[in-house]
Amino acid sequence: MRFENKTVIITGAGGGIGTEIARKFAADGAKLALIDIKEEFALRTAEKLGLAGDRYLALAADISNEDSVKATIAKIHAHFGTVDVLLNVAGIPGPSARTEDYKFSDFKRVYEVNVFGTYLMMQNCLPIMQAQKSGVVINFGSCSGMFGYPYEIGYGSSKWAIIGMTKNAANENGANGVRINSISPGWVNTKMMSTILDSYKDVGITNSSDNVTLGPMGRPGSPVEIANVVAFMCSDEASYLNGSNWLVDGGMTLG
Ligand SMILES: NC(=O)c1ccc[n+]([C@@H]2O[C@H](COP(=O)([O-])OP(=O)(O)OC[C@H]3O[C@@H](n4cnc5c(N)ncnc54)[C@H](O)[C@@H]3O)[C@@H](O)[C@H]2O)c1
Repeated sequence: MRFENKTVIITGAGGGIGTEIARKFAADGAKLALIDIKEEFALRTAEKLGLAGDRYLALAADISNEDSVKATIAKIHAHFGTVDVLLNVAGIPGPSARTEDYKFSDFKRVYEVNVFGTYLMMQNCLPIMQAQKSGVVINFGSCSGMFGYPYEIGYGSSKWAIIGMTKNAANENGANGVRINSISPGWVNTKMMSTILDSYKDVGITNSSDNVTLGPMGRPGSPVEIANVVAFMCSDEASYLNGSNWLVDGGMTLG
């Protein structure tokens, strides 16, 4: 098993992609710290996967809250003794709106969760990994950030920031056994995708597929297809992967 008794932290563990990542790592022997904004969301994943009580912690934490993140990571470290893998999956899409109509308050909340949340999780986990001289971090970017999807200036630019932060942090580590990379999915069939498609009506798009580029494969990805790549990126087989951003988009960005 690739992650036998490794401690793997998953934020957004109650979400579509987070749940399948949890399933993948559990099957590969990991002990899981499942974090979501509500404990019931994390617990739902543990129940869905039938995890044994000694194999996981389900924790409520708002990743945008400094005190909440600090206390949560301390609790996980005290409980499991290590932090081997950090998977920053949690994110929010924000509204769909043209740049001039996008509310500043919405923009700030998207940054608080996506950018500052990802940063706070790294800030609290990296010292533990550095002391261990081993660790892997995967941050969630998106094709949106890289290719300027319309009507999501907050979300898209927050994902671009996450890709940037990944490279900053990766360049400060590496030699110490800590690798940091990001993954940027295209469309993935989850609640977030349906939320975004529903919100297109707010910019006057009645047929949401008019604003959805799927690329040559003609379908969105499944959460399992993202989880499989994340597990490989965290495995020892990917030991030379550092500071990279992997597009997993079925070719949607080929143009
Ligand atoms: N679904 C897609 O099409 C798609 C495409 C590209 C990238 N992504 C990225 O993949 C990641 C997972 O997305 P998903 O599709 O599984 O979404 P999802 O909405 O199903 O899951 C997101 C999870 O994050 C949790 N969350 C939100 N705010 C939080 C906070 N402040 N603190 C802790 N947890 C919080 C939610 O409760 C939810 O369980 C996100 O970062 C998203 O931006 C998704």
